[in-house]
Amino acid sequence: MPTHSLFPTRIHAATLPRGRFAELNPRLQRECLQLEQDDIAGQRWSRRNYPGGFTSYASAHQMHRVSPIFAKLARWIDREVARFADELQFDLGERLLEMTDCWVNVMPRGVSHTLHLHPLSVISGTYYVRVPKGAPGLKFEDPRLDRYMGAPPRRVDADIRNRNWVVLPAAPGGLLLFESWLRHEVVANTTQSDRISISFNYGWS
Ligand code: NI
Repeated sequence: MPTHSLFPTRIHAATLPRGRFAELNPRLQRECLQLEQDDIAGQRWSRRNYPGGFTSYASAHQMHRVSPIFAKLARWIDREVARFADELQFDLGERLLEMTDCWVNVMPRGVSHTLHLHPLSVISGTYYVRVPKGAPGLKFEDPRLDRYMGAPPRRVDADIRNRNWVVLPAAPGGLLLFESWLRHEVVANTTQSDRISISFNYGWS
């Protein structure tokens, strides 16, 4: 009998096709940096909740509805979410997975985003606009970690499937999708330049 692998935690990775990347990414970057300048409510919220960085999570959080460039990106992400939903074999019935929120994150040197999940959503993810060389990716935590009780730790050279934490690399044009219950964290940016990303949630409506 083989050893079965049940209840996998799936993370869908994709890259914006080269032509679309050349068209969209510089404009996305410009809009992200412009928003960082203009979004006073976001600046205020970030000072309290996102020290050293900027996020429009609590202010301009429907960028796919207000910016045509973000809307174009969202149409591509919609297709990748549909693929991911297929891989997960969701039975959606008559209802759709729809982007509910979409916001901007700018993380200068030293800024991190501690472990969290995205309540009230089905699928969440991030598109990477700008990732300086050497900046860390997205760190995921084994969702069964609170049940391990007396289980031994994993070897340092353990296969990626058997680790309790995995950092998946981030690169400009890259997209990572995961189910919203999966805890994740953005490790501190150790480079000198800003790391810029666009995060989003999908709901089932
Ligand atoms: Ni997150």
